[in-house]
Amino acid sequence: MVAGAPSPPDGFRRLMSRWTTGVSVVTAHDGAVDAGLTVNALLSVSLAPPALLVSLMHDVDTLPVLERSGRFGASLLAADQRSLSERFALPSAPARKFEGVPIHRAPHGSALLDGTLGGVECRVVSRTPAFDHILVMGEVEYQEVGRDALPLVFYRSGYGEADASGRIRLPSGRP
Ligand SMILES: Cc1cc2nc3c(=O)[nH]c(=O)nc-3n(C[C@H](O)[C@H](O)[C@H](O)COP(=O)(O)O)c2cc1C
Repeated sequence: MVAGAPSPPDGFRRLMSRWTTGVSVVTAHDGAVDAGLTVNALLSVSLAPPALLVSLMHDVDTLPVLERSGRFGASLLAADQRSLSERFALPSAPARKFEGVPIHRAPHGSALLDGTLGGVECRVVSRTPAFDHILVMGEVEYQEVGRDALPLVFYRSGYGEADASGRIRLPSGRP
């Protein structure tokens, strides 16, 4: 441990920012309303059956819609979809986030964003409170493979940028 390291939670946040992730947009549709947010706490849990876990802050607007519908979608963003990650991370009204965003519907109505690396629609099988987050486990009921493109990468609180030679340059971020 580095002497003088900042104490949690800021220190923990900074430490975990060194853990590189992809970026997804998790959506829910309750028949009337679409909601969605940017999520990098997404984990592939099981292959048989295919299942995913997402960790959602307990007070996000998407959560009640997801709980009403019992399902959620997850769209895996490509490197050139950074603006979608930024848009779905804003604290704006759920409906506004989707304005002008091309989507299509999974079989049970979850919105999947167009042009991504791929997407899934999951049935919620458990919901576990975890401190200030809720862990939502979903069994994958529908999946689609999208573009064969570079992924959007989140590292040190910033996004990777694809360069002309097709490589991803990671942000240097804070030390
Ligand atoms: C790269 C990135 C990753 C994020 N990952 C998560 C996450 O895993 N879980 C979460 O609850 N919020 C995450 N957020 C924050 C939410 O996207 C943000 O709070 C959003 O405004 C919540 O939207 P909502 O209240 O409309 O549901 C992330 C934000 C960014 C920029």
